[in-house]
Amino acid sequence: MKFFIDTANLDQIKEAQDLGILDGVTTNPSLMAKEGITGEENIKKHYQKICEIVDGDVSAEVISTTYQEMIKEGKALAKLHEQIVVKVPMIKDGVKAIKYFSDNRIKTNCTLVFSAGQALLAAKAGATYVSPFIGRLDDISTDGLSLIQEIRLIYDNYGFATQILAASVRHTMHVIDCAKIGADVMTGPLSSIEGLLKHPLTDIGLEKFLADFKKGNQK
Ligand code: E4P
Repeated sequence: MKFFIDTANLDQIKEAQDLGILDGVTTNPSLMAKEGITGEENIKKHYQKICEIVDGDVSAEVISTTYQEMIKEGKALAKLHEQIVVKVPMIKDGVKAIKYFSDNRIKTNCTLVFSAGQALLAAKAGATYVSPFIGRLDDISTDGLSLIQEIRLIYDNYGFATQILAASVRHTMHVIDCAKIGADVMTGPLSSIEGLLKHPLTDIGLEKFLADFKKGNQK
């Protein structure tokens, strides 16, 4: 299972990278705005900085909504760095654009996916990744994890190569449940990754081991 971090914050990306378990980064226009990154050139530079920190795929989202514009914008994003994956919204022109990018060997991440039907279309178009937003489904009393299960079943039925990127992950249990279901990738905040570390018995056990060592080695 790949671990992506869902942020445009360079410090958090570095921290996750230093942990040694980071496989990539996802961003979106809201996350860029949250870091105060505005203007086309600054945004492009920021993507390059992210690519220099991590080894894996970095999703950069188009803000265009028509086929021709998405192709132009996506090509420019893909040229920034070999690690860039063009993030395209699940709309009609987006599906056409994903097909174009797939035919032209440009990696894509189909975003804003909320149903199995949308995920099926993304795979048919040749998306590298499909991003079902599980947290946002949970927010409206719909089971986000069931969607991951449905997509896993459909993709396995037909051997689709599109990777299921569980997005909008909010906490550690999302990560664990996605791993049980067989999501290929998860993307979430640093806290959802670091939360996996925590167990009180680990802390209590370590404290005891260190205390016993100290006692035994006192002169
Ligand atoms: C996915 O790539 C999105 O950037 C993201 O996971 C959205 O998460 P949110 O619902 O917490 O905003």
